[in-house]
Amino acid sequence: MKKILLYGVVLLGCCTVGLTGAAVAADKGPAEMTLTSTVDPAPTPKPATFPHAAHQSRLECGACHHAKGADGKQIAYSEGQKIEKCESCHNSKAGMPDKINTFKNAAHTLCQGCHRSTKPELAKCTVCHK
Ligand code: HEC
Ligand code: HEC
Ligand code: HEC
Ligand code: HEC
Repeated sequence: MKKILLYGVVLLGCCTVGLTGAAVAADKGPAEMTLTSTVDPAPTPKPATFPHAAHQSRLECGACHHAKGADGKQIAYSEGQKIEKCESCHNSKAGMPDKINTFKNAAHTLCQGCHRSTKPELAKCTVCHK
């Protein structure tokens, strides 16, 4: 499974390089990320591994990204939307519902939620927290 993901990243990597010259290429962000809470950090940090490009190859951007309107409600993703850090909205001072009131809780709802419904083994802590 890791191999399949890795090949995906390599393939995407080469295409991104090929496209960077073109103005049409949207900013896809980093291919690999290590996510860490900074606004509401746990006493013992637990960074999470996130193969962004591998997820992009099978999911729409809007499966994870969205924005916030002036009324505080969620705005669905649309192409060219400014992509902000999850924490800038999902933090303990923003008054969000409990299950999404920190980076940790928002990430667990989204990431673990999909992983759990895809395959129980994918929801194990060590899949993301190596
Ligand atoms: C599908 C991926 C995924 C799984 C599975 C997952 N987590 Fe997380 N977790 C994250 C992400 C993303 C964050 C937010 C970024 C960060 O702080 O690591 C996070 C944050 C955390 C934090 C806060 C860490 C900090 O530094 O503030 C703790 C504690 C945590 N997770 C514990 C767990 C435990 C325990 C399990 C298993 C029951 C688990 N997680 C399973 C992705 C996951
Ligand atoms: C499976 C979920 C998921 C999908 C699908 C996804 N992303 Fe992301 N993306 C993330 C997460 C999580 C981050 C890190 C956000 C953070 O640091 O708080 C991120 C970060 C980014 C960033 C960097 C933002 C910054 O300033 O740090 C860009 C740009 C981005 N994504 C673009 C895209 C585009 C374009 C697509 C569709 C082609 C896409 N993403 C698909 C989850 C996803
Ligand atoms: C610009 C602000 C903003 C950013 C950035 C943002 N969110 Fe949200 N998010 C919201 C708002 C607003 C809601 C709706 C809250 C409510 O229902 O009260 C929401 C809802 C959610 C939900 C609840 C389920 C759903 O989709 O309705 C999850 C899970 C979630 N966000 C995860 C994330 C993750 C993970 C990131 C980073 C990849 C992120 N959000 C980035 C504002 C934001
Ligand atoms: C909509 C579904 C979905 C969402 C949302 C999602 N994932 Fe995944 N993720 C998957 C699937 C499916 C796989 C298995 C890919 C494969 O089999 O090649 C996967 C694989 C992974 C892997 C690699 C597992 C391995 O093989 O080692 C990591 C790490 C991971 N996801 C972390 C995250 C994190 C962190 C987030 C949230 C920021 C997230 N995922 C959000 C569906 C999702």
